[in-house]
Amino acid sequence: DAKDSGHCQWQSPSNIALVKYWGKKHEQIPCNPSISFTLKNAQTTTSLEWERKDVPSSSDVDFTFYFHGQEKESFRQRIQKYLNRMAEEIPLLLNYRLTISSENTFPHSSGIASSASAMNALAAALIDMERQITISIPSEETKQSKFDQRISRLSRLGSGSACRSNYANAALWGQCSYPGSSDAYAVGLGTILHPVFQQYKDAILLVDQGEKKVSSSAGHQLMVGNPYGDVRYQEARKNTENLLEILKSGDLDAFTTLVEAEAMTLHALMMASSPGYILMHPNTLIIIQAIQGYRKDTGIPVCFTLDAGPNVHLLYPDHHKDPVKKFIQDELISYCVDRQWIDDEMGSGSRKL
Ligand code: PMV
Repeated sequence: DAKDSGHCQWQSPSNIALVKYWGKKHEQIPCNPSISFTLKNAQTTTSLEWERKDVPSSSDVDFTFYFHGQEKESFRQRIQKYLNRMAEEIPLLLNYRLTISSENTFPHSSGIASSASAMNALAAALIDMERQITISIPSEETKQSKFDQRISRLSRLGSGSACRSNYANAALWGQCSYPGSSDAYAVGLGTILHPVFQQYKDAILLVDQGEKKVSSSAGHQLMVGNPYGDVRYQEARKNTENLLEILKSGDLDAFTTLVEAEAMTLHALMMASSPGYILMHPNTLIIIQAIQGYRKDTGIPVCFTLDAGPNVHLLYPDHHKDPVKKFIQDELISYCVDRQWIDDEMGSGSRKL
């Protein structure tokens, strides 16, 4: 009986933002809307087991956490805080002992942010557990969309960008003109995409694997008081509206201009913070210039984006994959750490295993 014990396993992908979320109010309420592509190969798989306790916990949710089979002390505090917050949403969590085991499909110290995929998979598993215990299985499609919305909202409470990871192909988070959009959860954009964006490719070029000097949460914090903050949020709202149109029309020139401007703005905001900081490495700049040169020379619509780190995401349409992979092999991987890159593309969001 699921009321006594049970388990489930969920897999969620990472996502790459095109319009960036950078700056937040309390509990990951964003200062501007953002849009991302959902990835396929960079995934976290999380299994959750639960066992009923004789005496319920009064405050802290009782859990053990394994990362690639090993207990991870360094993640414990963040997960405890998240589970305690989840117990406000799902009070029955306090009645159980949880065992959470997580694995990433990508190299764990690759410098790829894993909080989006990890928080999304964990939120999905916790909601599934609740559903199994309370036996309220949704049947109609409308209920499926409510289920997705709940995964999105609860994963947002763990990591803002995580709320965009459960939807196929592309997602929008933050209130704007798009029907149904919200600051509390993301909505899927899979159905509005022009065919040129189907199976869009993302080559993740790994420039550095180290811990970031400034974490995302410290970065969001530094947006408070950033003199360019308000202008930025306005610009991001405009870029969100424009990108929604571009995703429908398939205008790749406009896509390139907007996406690269967003990436550079993100890093410009970091440099303009007080204290300012730089997360790009020299090889990040060399790769960016090589990508722009290749686009100019060949006319192939490659463009780059950046996360809050030195790695470069090279985005391009699927039908150009042969020449672009040759370009990566011949010209870019020598600037990647240990010649490493991840061959990724758009994927279908989170799923139960
Ligand atoms: O979700 P967080 O708090 O790790 O912030 C992520 C911020 C960026 O990755 C830089 C941009 C984004 O929208 O994903």
